[in-house]
Amino acid sequence: EPSGGSERAVDKDRQLDSVRKDSQGALSTNTGTRVDDTDNALQAGERGPTLMEDFHFREKITHFDHERIPERVVHARGAGAYGYFQPYASLSHYTRAHFLSDPSVRTPVFVRFSTVAGSRGSADTVRDVRGFATKFYTAEGNFDLVGNNIPVFFIQDGIKFPDFVHAVKPEPHNEIPQAQSAHDTLWDFVGLQPETMHMMMWLMSDRSLPRSYRMMQGFGVHTFRLVDAQGRATFVKFHWRPLLGTHSLVWDETQKIAGKDPDYNRRDLWEAIERGQYPEYELGMQLIPESDEFAFDFDLLDATKLLPEEQVPVTPVGKMVLDRNPDNFFAETEQVAFHTAHVVPGIDFTNDPLLQARNFSYLDTQLIRLGGPNFQQLPVNTPLAEVHNNQRDGYGQHRIHRGQTSYFDNSLASGCPYLASSQGDGAYTHYQERVDGVKIRKRSESFHDHYSQATLFYNSLADWEREHLVAAFQFELGKCEHTHVRERVVARLNNVDHGLATRVANGVGVQPPAEESTPNNGRSSPALSQANTTMDT
Ligand code: HEM
Repeated sequence: EPSGGSERAVDKDRQLDSVRKDSQGALSTNTGTRVDDTDNALQAGERGPTLMEDFHFREKITHFDHERIPERVVHARGAGAYGYFQPYASLSHYTRAHFLSDPSVRTPVFVRFSTVAGSRGSADTVRDVRGFATKFYTAEGNFDLVGNNIPVFFIQDGIKFPDFVHAVKPEPHNEIPQAQSAHDTLWDFVGLQPETMHMMMWLMSDRSLPRSYRMMQGFGVHTFRLVDAQGRATFVKFHWRPLLGTHSLVWDETQKIAGKDPDYNRRDLWEAIERGQYPEYELGMQLIPESDEFAFDFDLLDATKLLPEEQVPVTPVGKMVLDRNPDNFFAETEQVAFHTAHVVPGIDFTNDPLLQARNFSYLDTQLIRLGGPNFQQLPVNTPLAEVHNNQRDGYGQHRIHRGQTSYFDNSLASGCPYLASSQGDGAYTHYQERVDGVKIRKRSESFHDHYSQATLFYNSLADWEREHLVAAFQFELGKCEHTHVRERVVARLNNVDHGLATRVANGVGVQPPAEESTPNNGRSSPALSQANTTMDT
């Protein structure tokens, strides 16, 4: 039975207490033997060779030699913090998730903010998407909301993700540029894959230059499902809104700050929490009845589209407060493992092909990044909910499983307790969506409009925001060496807005397009609400 009340928020801290260590006391080896000298290796005579026998020397150097693990393949640079989440009211008419059903329950969280393209040591204030990943340590298991600060994504199907990331990352022959969108491979990909266009508009806007992680929105991006106790589902889009408002830097500032303080965003988060100015974010939901699945002029399963707030407003449902810095960057912020498939009863997926790919990718990458199958036992990942199963052994196994049996079904273990608790009300049951179809590699027609929402985004910007966006396109695309790449991107932009394409063309030295293009069959693009696109001033 999940325990309620604010007590739970401190449970993660209590759990972590058992592994917190201070480097105090007498110096010892890892096997507890006291060490007499750590500055001079054991050697044969004052000027002689070092002796193999020096177990302390060997252990110290060997451990150091193995200190590094692979950085994340994307989102390598990040900053994390602990805190708690509390719903304003019960959402039990939408979801059976316990942590959303009882306003007295404070659920501990760990959040990691990140840039995407740069390596672990790159600068914070680059033009890039920002990750906003939240792990809720709920009484029913960990729920991870692995989002970004932009509500849409570059591609529609996760099978393109390796191609996309290869195009974004520093180029393979010279590893240039670090964390910049100003290079040929990115723009080549963008020109050849028009589904990127909506996201590229956001990326070239000030949204990709957040002033602070405390002043940044977060979005789950995909359409997920909430499922209530009766098995009824509601589509949902998740939103985080910072209580300090959404603010960005301007391009000129970002470049200077990247030189003067590459840790700008990371430091700001750390220092604010140390000062007791705890960052706060309101969780909001766009709730869509299943009966409205086809009510929109885009597909809810298409992650390159947002759901305009005029059509479905965001309902505020709860608040998250980040009130504690991690004790150790590596142990916590580096080793945390988020995964879109970490869900709890009452939260389910949709067939969004990007989400489906993510549901495979995160565990797969963590198996190599975190060295084998037991990384959920790392303190930052350990759920507060109890873990019982027959998974055994593997590198880094910390549990000491007792008993004769490690298989199911068995008649030898008395009572087989995990079985009883894995059934009944508390168990995760997948939403019974009807699925049938032929096996094909083909994108639905409903995913084919790549421009309407890009236009909608452009139309919704204030004049000064447009100026920044045009300047960004000119700067970033202008760095491309290949004329045909610049020309193709300008041609794509002409499908978004003729004036925009003309201005960008003039800034990057290619022929402006002759006339307006209407790839969207004259579909109208209502102006978006301020809440969707415009920064707070
Ligand atoms: C990491 C968000 C699409 C694969 C991350 C992280 C975030 C994120 C926030 C960093 C997590 C952390 O702080 O540790 C998103 C969003 C996406 C998206 C919002 C689209 C809506 C994809 C896709 C794939 C993918 C399509 C692959 C098919 C990865 C991988 C990592 C990662 C491999 C590294 C994870 C690790 O090493 O722990 N993503 N991502 N992502 N993402 Fe995504």
